[in-house]
Amino acid sequence: MALEETSQPIELLLSVSRAGSQTLGAQIENQLRRAIRDGTLRRRAWVPSTRDLARQIGVSRRVVVDAYAQLAAEGYLSVRQGARPRVSEAAAAAGQGRAVVASAAPPPPRFDFRPSVPDVSTFPRAAWLRSLREALATITDADLGYGDPRGVEALRSALADYLGRVRGVVTDPEQIVVTNGYTQGLGLVCRALAAAGAKRIALDDPSNPEDGLVAVRAGLQPVLIGVDEDGTRVDELERADPDAVVLTPAHQHPTGVVLTGERRTALLAWLREHDAIAIEDDYDAEYRYDRAAIGALQGLDPDRVIYAGSTSKTLAPALRLGWLVVPPSLLQAVIHEKVFADRGTASIEQHAFADFLARGQLDRHLRRMRARYRGRRDALVGALTEALPKAAVRGVAAGLHVTVELPDSYNEQAIKEEARDRRVELETMSDYRLEPRDRSPTLILGYAQMSEPAIRAGVHELAKAVRAARVRV
Ligand SMILES: Cc1ncc(COP(=O)(O)O)c(C=O)c1O
Repeated sequence: MALEETSQPIELLLSVSRAGSQTLGAQIENQLRRAIRDGTLRRRAWVPSTRDLARQIGVSRRVVVDAYAQLAAEGYLSVRQGARPRVSEAAAAAGQGRAVVASAAPPPPRFDFRPSVPDVSTFPRAAWLRSLREALATITDADLGYGDPRGVEALRSALADYLGRVRGVVTDPEQIVVTNGYTQGLGLVCRALAAAGAKRIALDDPSNPEDGLVAVRAGLQPVLIGVDEDGTRVDELERADPDAVVLTPAHQHPTGVVLTGERRTALLAWLREHDAIAIEDDYDAEYRYDRAAIGALQGLDPDRVIYAGSTSKTLAPALRLGWLVVPPSLLQAVIHEKVFADRGTASIEQHAFADFLARGQLDRHLRRMRARYRGRRDALVGALTEALPKAAVRGVAAGLHVTVELPDSYNEQAIKEEARDRRVELETMSDYRLEPRDRSPTLILGYAQMSEPAIRAGVHELAKAVRAARVRV
């Protein structure tokens, strides 16, 4: 659509000086040329009309008309009678390395087994939109101010109900801090702990490497604790002597094992004895397929366990919504960190999420997704049993991924490369091992985002990659 030259004024950061030796027109030309070349002005970006720019920088319109004509002749601008001038396509493509980088991206995988993202194609858009509309229709002008840095009261209250009902979390809305996802929550807690004098934080090995980086940035030293078939090796805490422990008790990430009852008891006893804190990352506990869900660790000792959750696995990572349930002893310190991080999470979305929870939409979505994911898990386990009979498939009872342990004659990296050549993407245990440990080669396969037929076809391709990799080593 050709916009009229005069339709809407556009601002442009450009200034001219009458003191220098360059003419006004040359100054306009040089600044625009440079901005287009270095990508500050992107291709097809609108620039002000000659009349607007002349007015903005206080020069005669003729000067701007001549400068634009020169830039158009050089191919930088596209100037047509009656249409708003803009940066030309050709100039930007020639001058901007970024356009070249973007076009060199590899083709998307045919089969994407990487874990971590749920099936976002089923995001309940209509229900979310309804809650968002409801939020905008009902919030007051005062709600559009800064508000409580812990988050919107209606959401904290709905979360306290939901977490108590579904996860056995013991909390009051006052103790909940809404975050921009788990990762931010972990950072806030680490900084609050460091400010209170904590030095060392225990992390599972294997676990998400980002958690260690978050802790280091907050000034804490990560110490690594092993994981076996009963979950985190609580007996190693004595040697590591941390002030805090991060763990995923419901479904260890990425091995998929559940922290046993004995380990839970031993962990809580250790925390009490050493006046230490646990951070419970309850990232995907809503997905349990064969048995009832195990309650949150936090419910057993709300004064020693900080509970952390997020919508990234249940709804979509794009929401960037999470929560912390913080014991009273650390609450003020965590709120303080939240204020300095961002003064609070975006509150219109919080109102929408509160409405979404209150309408039972999260429960409804999870019921639907659990059935769908169970089908995908069964398809994956069935296909793996057939195509890779020597593999041990573990971590199948919960979550959105399984682990596939192979005999020692296989090599994780070689399999990954062979798979990538076939446009199959996956992760391996090495992606999560924080210290090199001699362990059996293990693949990590997420099944959330693929249909059952795609899973079966993907496993077929993956088995070819596994066989080819064996020949290579
Ligand atoms: C172990 C674990 N915890 C938490 C999260 C969620 O993080 P966030 O809420 O920052 O998206 C993820 C996401 O992949 C995860 O793998």
